[in-house]
Amino acid sequence: MSAATPGPALAPDERVGMPEADEVVPAPADPREPGDVLLEVRDLRVSIPTPAGPVHAADGVTLTLRQGEVLGVVGETGSGKSVTCRALLGLRPTPKTEVTGTVAYPSLGVDDITGLPPRRLRRLWGRHVAMIPQNPMTSLDPVKRIGDQVAEALGDTVKGAAARRERVIELLRQVGLPAPERRLDAFPHQFSGGMLQRTLIAIAIAQNPAMLVADEPTTALDVLIQDQILGLLLSLQRDLGTSLVLVSHDLSVVSQVCDRVAVMYAGQVVEIADTATLLTQPRHPYTRALIGALPSAVARDEPLRVIPGAPPPLVGLGPTCRFAARCELHEAACDEWRTELLAVGAPTRPDSHHSRCRRADELDAAAAPPTTPKDQGEQR
Ligand SMILES: Nc1ncnc2c1ncn2[C@@H]1O[C@H](COP(=O)(O)OP(=O)(O)O)[C@@H](O)[C@H]1O
Ligand code: SF4
Ligand SMILES: [Mg+2]
Repeated sequence: MSAATPGPALAPDERVGMPEADEVVPAPADPREPGDVLLEVRDLRVSIPTPAGPVHAADGVTLTLRQGEVLGVVGETGSGKSVTCRALLGLRPTPKTEVTGTVAYPSLGVDDITGLPPRRLRRLWGRHVAMIPQNPMTSLDPVKRIGDQVAEALGDTVKGAAARRERVIELLRQVGLPAPERRLDAFPHQFSGGMLQRTLIAIAIAQNPAMLVADEPTTALDVLIQDQILGLLLSLQRDLGTSLVLVSHDLSVVSQVCDRVAVMYAGQVVEIADTATLLTQPRHPYTRALIGALPSAVARDEPLRVIPGAPPPLVGLGPTCRFAARCELHEAACDEWRTELLAVGAPTRPDSHHSRCRRADELDAAAAPPTTPKDQGEQR
């Protein structure tokens, strides 16, 4: 398969953050290059009103994603991964959810999508950004045929019934569905979980978007199928030059396939770095604990390590360190520290190594976990 350039940049009058105009100007040729900043998230806050008070599911999330890059987002259940990732597409969990900060797509000419209504966001969805959901069993319309659902995802990018049918077959073949021409009339209940997830991936890539967000795309599948689907996603990402945000609760998964990793804890990114740096020189105690808890980080005859305690509920949290109650390195000064995501060492680029721990510089290589998952994996 030849490398393809993801969908074109938004023409000025198509910009989702801009006033609407009567005429739609044709999109110019794609000016983007691999390595350009595609997504820039600054101080993203998502507050969901609940009877117990607002749940701060994302609380000051800052991160960047470059064209063609794979960014892993990892953290325990309830740390805000899904809410954050859906906010990258302008989606909010409830209509009354408050969203502040900025979510910009600089290379698409989009300044900020927070607060935009769905009518304006639709110009972004499918063509520029798309999501692969967690549960394939519930994500397709049970009463619509597979072929029709994939065809819908083409939007108006392919004209004519015959050409649309051909493109649907091509997409289903691209995602590894055997004999796709014989499956167009099938309904979702006739497909296995793996086939449904392949179909959802076909839907997500139908318009060759610049960015895919995959929220735990293999969690609901059998173990054997999980590897196949992850492999498919990564080979498509490489072939199509797409940027990928891969969400997982499993550090061993993201560390094997991602260029960079953002570690989330209690609604915040607590550390972000390129994968090798994060694994060998973690600069936040939570990341160190996650690495230490990996099955590959303990000897065969040792019990698995767990991180004592539990994350705090995301209601009424103050500005100080949220990991303090579980942190081995906690000291009195931490209780005064208003956490910020700060560059570790001398910052070279906005996407260089950052940590929210005030003692990050003390966690140098000498204090890193004794072995990295890769080292251990090779010994096992
Ligand atoms: N619709 C909702 N109403 C109330 N709280 C919600 C809603 N959606 C998510 N939350 C809360 O937001 C927090 C983050 O959730 P989520 O992003 O789904 O976590 P993760 O994906 O990391 O498991 C959790 O405390 C969750 O209970
Ligand atoms: S700021 Fe203090 S309590 Fe928080 S992670 Fe760092 S050392 Fe631990
Ligand atoms: Mg989730």
